[in-house]
Amino acid sequence: MIAEIAGNGPMTFARYMEMALYDPQEGYYMTLRENLNGEKSQRMGWQGDFYTAPELSPLLARTLVQQVVEIDRYLGRPQNFVFVEMGAGTGAFARDFLTSCRDEAPDLLSRLSYYIVERSPSLRAEQQRAIDRVVGHKESPRVQWLNSLPDCADDSVTGVFFSNELVDAFPIHRVKGTSAGIQEVLVDYIDGRFVECLGGLSSVKVSEYVRQHNIVVGEGCTSELHVQAGEWMAEVASVLHRGVVITVDYGHSAGDYYRPERRDGTLLCYYRHSISRDPYDRIGEQDLTAHVNFSALANIGTTHQVLPVGFTTLANWLMGLGVDHLVAGMDQESEEVRALAQLLHPHGMGKTFKVLVQQKNMGSVSLKGLQFRAFFDDVL
Ligand SMILES: C[S@@+](CC[C@H](N)C(=O)[O-])C[C@H]1O[C@@H](n2cnc3c(N)ncnc32)[C@H](O)[C@@H]1O
Repeated sequence: MIAEIAGNGPMTFARYMEMALYDPQEGYYMTLRENLNGEKSQRMGWQGDFYTAPELSPLLARTLVQQVVEIDRYLGRPQNFVFVEMGAGTGAFARDFLTSCRDEAPDLLSRLSYYIVERSPSLRAEQQRAIDRVVGHKESPRVQWLNSLPDCADDSVTGVFFSNELVDAFPIHRVKGTSAGIQEVLVDYIDGRFVECLGGLSSVKVSEYVRQHNIVVGEGCTSELHVQAGEWMAEVASVLHRGVVITVDYGHSAGDYYRPERRDGTLLCYYRHSISRDPYDRIGEQDLTAHVNFSALANIGTTHQVLPVGFTTLANWLMGLGVDHLVAGMDQESEEVRALAQLLHPHGMGKTFKVLVQQKNMGSVSLKGLQFRAFFDDVL
């Protein structure tokens, strides 16, 4: 980073975040943590910096199998049903989804191709181990890993695209509202430390994003622009022939995202389960993440014929898929049930976490997971 700034001048925050998270040698997601004894460990999970819903409970995957069975029926039970999981972390979701499919939907499993699109080689290895342990190589010959979405041919997928906390890990551009309009936050390196400065919007792509999504940032407020998330949605749209896109993440509608009370934006850093707002600390050792602008995802999808089906909270989604019935038969004091309480918590993950569902070439669909709407339909 320092050499790049010295050569080219201040860089965008998106470039800084890209290097901090995904530099092949030193990026947070690309490397394992090493302790003083040289022992290596993953950065996600209880021993790491943060946990995610699939690591907290297998119930997200179990309920999703039921939702996918319904989608499979809408698609007429295709001979090759493709489930694409993007950004699979430690492989917890894939492991639980395939296990649950084996136990509860063997017909779907017999027609299923499970693709994992994962950027990080160390996480790919971890995912492989997690899946092999439970499902076994012989039973899951149709699990395949891809480095990036463009590795899939256009129009090649009939089935489901799923991601949990993928989009919040995409690098974002940071901007500030000033009396002269929106300015971009740039990262410079002066006197041995990273400092921020303001400049004009850094590219035509960025200004076009601001124009296309009518983004207004109040004077004195800092916020984010999700240009890469938009490009990802366009890629999903070209690969998907027919089916459903399910995106689970922290986030808001645009109206909520850019309201003036949210003065400092949503960029957060996670290190050993504590949260900070200093992205220039512990570079490559802490996670950087920003909430998702779901309206922008829905609008970009629509311009590519991937149309919104519904938008709800994670809590409502899980309740719609009957998580309460699954829990009824379990030990109420168990870790699993306690973890589920976190996913459903009205002031915790259950509320900030949202589920956006979009479809392509399916006509009208009505999905169980969306039966309890949390918002009015035009919220996006
Ligand atoms: C916050 S983690 C979420 C992991 C997992 N979905 C979960 O919920 O536990 C983000 C994941 O997305 C992956 N990732 C980020 N950008 C990606 C990209 N452009 N393509 C594929 N994977 C990506 C990261 O390597 C990591 O596995």
